[in-house]
Amino acid sequence: MDESFQKVAKLSDFRLSKSKEARLDDLHLALFSVDGIVFVVENNCPHQHFEVLHQGHLEGCIITCPMHGRTFDLETGNCLNGAGKLRKLDVKTIDDEVWVKKPVPTSFSLFDK
Ligand code: FES
Repeated sequence: MDESFQKVAKLSDFRLSKSKEARLDDLHLALFSVDGIVFVVENNCPHQHFEVLHQGHLEGCIITCPMHGRTFDLETGNCLNGAGKLRKLDVKTIDDEVWVKKPVPTSFSLFDK
C-alpha cells in the first residue's frame, strides 16, 4: 500500500447512511457511498465554504449542499448550477476499509520560506 493512503472509514459505516464525515489530519472530508462505490471530497462547499456537504441530499452521484442548494457531480467534482468544483481525493477500498490518499498541497503563501 502506498504510504500516502490512510484509513478513514469502514464500508460497514455506510449501512445506515450513505454519507459521513471524517478527518484526515487537518482535512475535513465528506464520504459518500453510491452503489458500492465510495467517493471522498473535501468537506468544503466552494460556494461559501460551509463544511456541511456530508449532510447534503444525495441522489445518485449528485450531492446537493444543504446551505444554498448548489449541486455537484461526485464523479467529476463539477458544480452543476454555479461556479466552483469539489476537491476530490483518491480512494481505495480494501475489504471493509476505506483508504484515502492525502493530497499534495496546491497553494502556497508568498510569505512561506
Ligand atoms: S455553501 Fe454550499 S451552496 Fe452555499
